[in-house]
Amino acid sequence: MKTIQTDNSKSSKSYKENLTLYDNAGLARLYNGYIEKFKKLESKKFKLDMSRGKPSPKQLDLSSELLNSDGDASNWISEDKTDCRNYGILDGLPEMKKFISECTGIDAECFIVGGNSSLSMMFDAISCFMIHGVGNNTPWIKQEKIKFLCPSPGYDRHFEMCEHFGIEMIPIEMTLDGPDMDMVEELVSKDSSIKGMWCVPKYSNPDGIVYSDDTVRRLASLKPAASDFRLFWDNAYFVHDLTDNPPKLLDIMSECERRGNEELPLLFFSTSKITLPGAGVAFLACKKGNYFQLRNNYSFKTVGFDKINQLRHLKFLKNRSELKKHMAKHREIIKPKFDTIIEALKDEFSSNPILTWTEPKGGYFISVNTAKGCAKRVVTLCKKLGLNLTSAGATYPYGKDPLDRNIRLAPTFPSTKELEAAMGIFSLTVKIAYIEKRLSLF
Ligand SMILES: Cc1ncc(COP(=O)(O)O)c(C=O)c1O
Repeated sequence: MKTIQTDNSKSSKSYKENLTLYDNAGLARLYNGYIEKFKKLESKKFKLDMSRGKPSPKQLDLSSELLNSDGDASNWISEDKTDCRNYGILDGLPEMKKFISECTGIDAECFIVGGNSSLSMMFDAISCFMIHGVGNNTPWIKQEKIKFLCPSPGYDRHFEMCEHFGIEMIPIEMTLDGPDMDMVEELVSKDSSIKGMWCVPKYSNPDGIVYSDDTVRRLASLKPAASDFRLFWDNAYFVHDLTDNPPKLLDIMSECERRGNEELPLLFFSTSKITLPGAGVAFLACKKGNYFQLRNNYSFKTVGFDKINQLRHLKFLKNRSELKKHMAKHREIIKPKFDTIIEALKDEFSSNPILTWTEPKGGYFISVNTAKGCAKRVVTLCKKLGLNLTSAGATYPYGKDPLDRNIRLAPTFPSTKELEAAMGIFSLTVKIAYIEKRLSLF
């Protein structure tokens, strides 16, 4: 990166903060100063990571009790006297179903309690529908083309899963109320090759948007052209609130049932970001036809999931009100981290519209939009300074953000001090990338 020859006799205009108001000569003068700062930061050899939504060690410590081994066999007997150390009970301990039912408001009988990952239950459902079809429908793999609607920006692993299965993805724009429902209704009602839609309805990854009541009702009222269309309702952040009065999400299951659409949704939850990611408990909830088919599918895959872990989680999380208390402890740890990022963004960009951002009320991410065509460059420049971010484009199907604007920031893992350093780097690179774009330097 080189500095630019400038005429320093001309002072910069007084629009100090707002780069959009600078002419090219003014931008070039600023650029040289930023490059000097960049070089200084480069020499510091930072190793910072805001790339994935991982809990910090302090958050993991909240669940240390789960790791206490208890050799007394009597502790591992379930309410119905099942010895949880042994095989059996394919769809989960009744008391675990009761617990998740109390926490979500969904009937206990709708749940299959799975293994350690909800993502793997989504994968299982798709692979089952691929090979066997939804209910009595033709297997997806035997149909000419399969498409999923993908509200974007969205969760990169959903999109990668679609690519893995050869499912064509149709991006759907996100609004502050959730996916653009006019577009969803239009497409789903006309195109019978559309078989699914990804939804992260509460604190969407990465925007932190909560679907409005109207959005949930319209989704529940869909009249898909394909009888084998399903909503993949990934409620990963159902209790991950960062405020005292969290927004309420309407229950998709009862809304669908009310409209005779009860087979539409498959709901997914997990304790990954409640207790220990990778060692938590995952849940799938659905109604009759789906339930019968997916439970049956599991009966060939496993003799039963980890009931010891289910009991261990029950003893630890106990009930809805204890879960709430536990989540308040997470909030205490992570809210200041979200605040650190938001404050840094406000400081740098409140009067400088080359960057906009979300202020989520929960979840795990802050989503930012750079000026058009700058996101990839920002991520590359951050990497040069030792700050690892999620790849630009990852929040869109096929890794292609059409405007190259969106970047997902994950505040939870680094310490507040690291976040401060990271935001210094981030803000500088946003300005450098903007000027380079304006001056056609890349
Ligand atoms: C929207 C969403 N769904 C699912 C997951 C993964 O969940 P699990 O650990 O239960 O597989 C994540 C993790 O970041 C996520 O953001």
